[in-house]
Amino acid sequence: MAQVKDLSTITPSLDTHRLPRHVAIIMDGNGRWAQQRGLLRNKGHAAGVEAARIVIRLARKLDISYLTLFAFSEENWQRPALEIKAIMGLLRRFLARELREMQENQIAFQAIGNLKQLPAAVQRDLAQTTAATAAGAKMVLTLALSYGGRSEIVQAVQALGKEIQAGRLQPGEVDAALFSRYLYTAGMPDPDLLIRTSGEYRLSNFLLWQSAYTELYLTETLWPDFREEEFLKALHAYQQRDRRFGLTQEQIEALNASNSRH
Ligand code: FPP
Repeated sequence: MAQVKDLSTITPSLDTHRLPRHVAIIMDGNGRWAQQRGLLRNKGHAAGVEAARIVIRLARKLDISYLTLFAFSEENWQRPALEIKAIMGLLRRFLARELREMQENQIAFQAIGNLKQLPAAVQRDLAQTTAATAAGAKMVLTLALSYGGRSEIVQAVQALGKEIQAGRLQPGEVDAALFSRYLYTAGMPDPDLLIRTSGEYRLSNFLLWQSAYTELYLTETLWPDFREEEFLKALHAYQQRDRRFGLTQEQIEALNASNSRH
């Protein structure tokens, strides 16, 4: 994996006890990054993979428990066939190249999305990487591939419908917590921080249900330029936020006091 600088020199203003548990990232702007340099879009994606490697490594060093990267959306299938092929090739190389590093650093890899749409070889690599890193207990690295938030919700509704039809569940038993268990992200905490690069101000169908209370960090930086300093800036901005989940400041303080007593 790419080299990361000594943490003590780059995190002086970061409170390492108040880091987000789950960071989700919409990695956007690879194409524009390449265009600005007169390069082919695929070169931008290759540079994007390097940025991802750096961010994964730093997230692990900081003890962030969940990192979820939006690598390929359902809508991305409409891109030119050659670009899709190049992205799939980059993905396969990424998996092969990072396997040992993930194992050594106790990172459990998984992919979420409509994975059946992916080429068979990619599906095989994803399954092998997931199995080979399953023991990783320090961080879950999730790649969202062929992913769409609305489709994820629709497939959860279909699965729930089947349970109800089979008589294993009553409609009245369905609440938000139970519903979450039918999403691809079952068992994962919701993202605390969602980063989007390249100056776009949209969720673009990413983790729609899960982002209900997520802090958003939007930056003009194009994804291939999003490196350690940029990630730390986002984490720092997150620590300045006042997260209240719809409660009053007094209620939050009372909750914090009661949590610290337990
Ligand atoms: C966003 O830039 C990038 C994608 C949709 C493609 C895939 C992402 C990567 C290759 C980065 C990391 C991948 C792995 C495997 C960890 P864009 O092409 O939408 O950029 P644009 O909006 O400037 O055209």
